Formats: sequence, structure tokens, C-alpha cells
Amino acid sequence: MRIVRTVADLRAALDGGARAGTVGLVPTMGAFHEGHLSLMRRARDECDTVVVSLFVNPAQFGSGEDLGSYPRDERRDAGLAEDAGVDVLFAPPREEVYPDGFSTAVEVSGVTDALCGSERSRGPGHFRGVATVVAKLLNMCRPDVAYFGQKDFQQTLVIKRLVRDLDMPVRIEMCPTVRDPDGLALSSRNAYLSPADRRRALSLKRSLDRAEELLHAGASGPAEVLAAARAELATAGLEPEYLELLRAVDLAPPRWTAGERLVVAVAARVGRARLIDNVVSTLRPAGGNAGDPGSTAHRPATPVAG
Ligand code: PAJ
Repeated sequence: MRIVRTVADLRAALDGGARAGTVGLVPTMGAFHEGHLSLMRRARDECDTVVVSLFVNPAQFGSGEDLGSYPRDERRDAGLAEDAGVDVLFAPPREEVYPDGFSTAVEVSGVTDALCGSERSRGPGHFRGVATVVAKLLNMCRPDVAYFGQKDFQQTLVIKRLVRDLDMPVRIEMCPTVRDPDGLALSSRNAYLSPADRRRALSLKRSLDRAEELLHAGASGPAEVLAAARAELATAGLEPEYLELLRAVDLAPPRWTAGERLVVAVAARVGRARLIDNVVSTLRPAGGNAGDPGSTAHRPATPVAG
């Protein structure tokens, strides 16, 4: 595996071989866990050349957020990426991504209004920072396919919208959320959890499971589903930053029609960590039989097709 730090070296590494075959890119901020590695392995299975970018992007952190303490260990990450079969690790310094006088931003509207983009959450600056850096990474690397996780469902939707709207010639793949055996979604920020916090954090997935059960049982409306999910969080003493049920296609309010694809998304602060999780599910008709295997409206959550 080669480690490169400049766009010129990245392009030389890829174009030196006349760009034979397909290139897959996995954008990351490092602190690798099985979630990141699952994206790399998927890219390895599907592409001839696999590039991973490692850049802790200051532009997507708010002023009170954990930019300074975000876990960084490039040597460990490089070892894990190499073991996952990555060909090129692109780890640029800050000035390679944001040179003096950098003054452009990419703004995706609509799908950035809700959830993590809302004022009471990370605010509109977060997705501006994400969209700008991902647009740059896609232009720097020019991959055929780029891989993102369902763990950050809204982020992946934002990137899909960005490449569609700007006619960027890349396919975006959304890969399933990787979890610990107890259900906790893997996250670099789980490192901030004490053992007691970690037990409380399990209520995030439990609340999403409860919501999904109700969707499959033909719940009367979002209020019923959200109240049950909120009650589950309350048993662990968690007050969510947000807990919402939206259309998976565009994060608009649901129409509540059978067969509609919905996402239930939650964010909560647990100790020092801010955690997010989601499930995507299909609404079953009210009064239906949740056990009816012939029903087309009842589908399991995850994985979500790209
Ligand atoms: P980071 O948090 O490092 O995540 C990199 C990729 O790994 C994202 O696509 C994320 O959705 C995916 N991922 C994280 N946890 C996962 C899990 N448990 N299962 C499956 N996939 C998981 O997301 C970012 O970095 C940044 O915002 C970035 C896109 C790199 C732009 O700076």
C-alpha cells in the first residue's frame, strides 16, 4: 500500500498505470473500526484499485465540537487499511485540502435541513463542510465508485444529491451499518464512552428496534411510533437531540402510505459522546398481519440498496 499526501502524487499513483480498470474511493476521517473496514473490503471486492482518504476535515466541525480531541493514529490506521487490501492511502495535510485563499463552498439544500443539519443539532455549516470536502475528494481522486455507510444515512443522501446535481461521474454506494454484537453501531466516538455510558447507549438501537416493530405492525402514525421510541430512550435516562421519522428518499415528512420507505433517525449525547443511529424500514398497512409472509409491504430493515 502506498501512502500519498498530495493530489499530484495521488494522481500519479492512479494515472501512472493509465487508469486501468475501476477505482473505488472510501472517504474517512480515520480511527478505523469494522464499519470503515467493511467499506474498504466492499471496495476491494468490486474495484481494481482501492483508495482510502484519511482527513479530519475541520470545516465540518462546529466550534464546540471535538475537532481537537478527535482520535488520530495514522500508523494504526495504515496497518488496518493495508490488511483490508487498500492500494493507496491518501492522507493530505490541511493546506493540501484548504490552501491559502480557499474560498469555495458546496451547499446542498433540502435534505440538509432536517436531523443533523438542523439548528438544534450540528447546524447548516456541518453539511456544507462535508459536501465541500467530499466534492474535493471526488475531484482529486476521480473514482468510478465511492463508498459511504448507512450509519450516516443523511450524509450519504447529501452526497448522492451532490453528485447527481453536479453531474459528477461517480456511483455512490451505501453500505449497511456495522454493529457490535450488542447492537451498538460502531463509531469512532464510541471511544469516548465509559462502561456505564456504553450500557446507556444501547437504548439508541433498542428505540429504533421498537419503532421498526411498530412500523411493521401497521402503526397509526408517526406520533405513536416516536412516542414508543422516546420511551425506550427514557428508560436509559436519554433525552434525544433529535428523534425523527421521515421519508427515506428525501427526508420529507411521511405521507403514511403502505409501502412507503421510512427512516427513523436518532441523535443523543451520552456522556462525552454525541451518537447517531438509524433504521430504514417500509410501512406496513394499518390493521395488517405483521406475520403474513406473503405481504410485499413488510420488509426487513437494512441493508439499503445504493
Ligand atoms: P467517518 O466518520 O470517518 O466515516 C467514514 C465512512 O465510514 C462514512 O461513510 C461512514 O458512514 C462510514 N461508517 C462509519 N461508521 C460506520 C458503521 N458502523 N457501519 C458502516 N459504515 C460506517 O463520515 C465521515 O468520516 C466524514 O464525514 C467524511 C465523509 C469522510 C467527510 O469528511
